[in-house]
Amino acid sequence: MPRQSAVTLFGEWARLGKDEGMESGHSPSVEQMIDSVINRVPEKFSAIDVGCGNGWAARRLARLPGCYRSSGVDGSEQMVRKARSIDPGGDYFVGNLPGWRPEENVDLILSMEFIYYLDEPLQFFGTLHDDWLSSGGSVVFGLDHYLENESSIYWPDSLGVPMATLSMGEWRDGLESAGFRDVEALQVCPREDWSGTLVLIGTKA
Ligand SMILES: C[S@@+](CC[C@H](N)C(=O)[O-])C[C@H]1O[C@@H](n2cnc3c(N)ncnc32)[C@H](O)[C@@H]1O
Repeated sequence: MPRQSAVTLFGEWARLGKDEGMESGHSPSVEQMIDSVINRVPEKFSAIDVGCGNGWAARRLARLPGCYRSSGVDGSEQMVRKARSIDPGGDYFVGNLPGWRPEENVDLILSMEFIYYLDEPLQFFGTLHDDWLSSGGSVVFGLDHYLENESSIYWPDSLGVPMATLSMGEWRDGLESAGFRDVEALQVCPREDWSGTLVLIGTKA
């Protein structure tokens, strides 16, 4: 299958309405991601969803008690157009990562099923730690594609999109090497023949 960029692929998915399937499919894991990280965020906090698709998780974060600002960034104009049509008052940005960065630092970064589309995802951990997060801020990532989740290993070929295929240990070490403290890696929502979403959490000192 010819190779294309993830942004091109997901722009087409937005056009076809497949963003809604991602929302319903990813939602149970994102609920658990939020539960796992919420005790690390300050009483009043700002949040951003990185690789936000149609922005559903940014809107979920906005509904959390204490969240005074929630935004989303995605490289696909079609996805961001969709986010804005659902939530005209929301803060959604078209941004090609890793180059884009928010105007203000944030307290919580959430990212579901995005990070492995980057050429250098572990390097991006360092950017998030050094340049995006406020002191004491936290990150929570959800990944369905990782080495131990054997059912996901064929995705780069079947989607025709480059993906970084790393082990749970490599992801975890990457967060620690980027400077994150209290790093945790857990698997949520496993099923038969599915190892579950790998959830990675870390906090900036
Ligand atoms: C699998 S989708 C997940 C979307 C959303 N997080 C969700 O769970 O529904 C991955 C998203 O990452 C975005 N993306 C991929 N590579 C990107 C890049 N280099 N810069 C910005 N966005 C990117 C795609 O456009 C797509 O919307």
